[in-house]
Amino acid sequence: MVNEIAILDTKQMNFALPEDLLMMQRSVREFAKREIEPLAAELDKRPQFPWQTLSMMGEMGLLGIMTPERYGGAGLDTLSYVVLLEEIAAADAAHSTIMGVTSGLPQDILLNHGSAAQKERYLPKLASGEWIGSFCLSEPHCGSDAVAMKARALKVDGGYKLSGTKAWITSGGEAQVYLVMAKTDPTAGARGVSCFVIEKGTPGMYFGKPEEKLGQHAAITTTVSFDDCFVGDDALVGSLGQGFVIAMSSLDSGRIGIGAQAVGISRAAFELARLYAAERQAFGKSIREFQGVSFKLADMATRIEAARLLTYRAAWLKDRGYRVTQEAAMAKLFASETSAFVTHQALQILGGYGYSKDYPAERYFRDARVTEIYEGTSEIQRMVIARQVYRDLGN
Ligand code: CAA
Repeated sequence: MVNEIAILDTKQMNFALPEDLLMMQRSVREFAKREIEPLAAELDKRPQFPWQTLSMMGEMGLLGIMTPERYGGAGLDTLSYVVLLEEIAAADAAHSTIMGVTSGLPQDILLNHGSAAQKERYLPKLASGEWIGSFCLSEPHCGSDAVAMKARALKVDGGYKLSGTKAWITSGGEAQVYLVMAKTDPTAGARGVSCFVIEKGTPGMYFGKPEEKLGQHAAITTTVSFDDCFVGDDALVGSLGQGFVIAMSSLDSGRIGIGAQAVGISRAAFELARLYAAERQAFGKSIREFQGVSFKLADMATRIEAARLLTYRAAWLKDRGYRVTQEAAMAKLFASETSAFVTHQALQILGGYGYSKDYPAERYFRDARVTEIYEGTSEIQRMVIARQVYRDLGN
């Protein structure tokens, strides 16, 4: 049963989920089913940022899973993070996007590259969920080609003045903390990008209207603009010109999270289809007795399991200190395309009901779609993997 995640091939993976993680998984699953899942349809219809449930998640430590305890986080590893993120995604994709962005990107960046003062100021608030974090890389004219950004951070006395517009920013306007990539040297390509931590309310910072999107409506997305926005020298994260590498390495972490999210959405769609197929009668028997339906369910279960194992593997390697650019890209690519396949098949198994709003199949289908786009499109993941494949061949 796909739902029983304890089943891992320990011979292949060389590990099994520890008992304490399985216990946490059970309690997060119960919490998500009780508190989040019942809100999902309404949040899809009338989107609003789900502050109340996020605050519960913060209290449970779910918004700072990988942040060390000394900064108020849960101090757990990446494997725990993906196992628990999947539970939230299975209840509502939008919650898992907010969780993934605030944990996988800003906290990851501040932890690995922030100054002692930045860590002290931001990590405890982000890990507890008092503040939500956001990541600003894409712009209206460039997403995949991130180095082509136009946002500028001009050096002035005592700090920098930022100008430009960032696009598709998850939690834009709701988050308190923004990790912003901008060019400090427009002639230096990737090495001319720097990273800044900027707080909501800084003069010269503006938010656009929430984008009207296909799915994940409660994960509010806006533009974030800067117009001569002054930030002090202490807003620079890492060293000057290191911003692109910071963004890319944190996306390695973020992409593992998208893998887990896609597995969670797939699992929810699979469970719905499996139950429906058992109950729905046609031609005198339940439709799961037909090979046309049972083969669909078999393919869905197999792909979900494979996507989960790729995601666990990337997390497991990251926890052991390996660079996981390729493994994270593979996990995200395979899991997001699996979620497109699984949600498509689930909708098909439910037939007319799948196409209607009476069942969540159509929402899963819409929510899953963006996993093939954000934090690097499937095409970008293939590009990242192909580069590594060529490197392995010594070319
Ligand atoms: N880790 C560490 N360093 C890395 C790296 C990684 N994963 N990937 C690249 N770098 C380094 C390179 O080593 C290189 O460093 P040097 O200058 O020292 O050689 C530098 O970064 C430039 O790298 P590339 O030459 O590979 O750069 P590129 O222009 O060819 O781009 C790319 C590479 C993989 C296509 C990259 O641009 C990319 O990933 N694009 C997609 C961006 C993306 O995922 N955007 C999503 C935005 S987040 C989001 O969706 C919003 C949200 O709120 C959810």
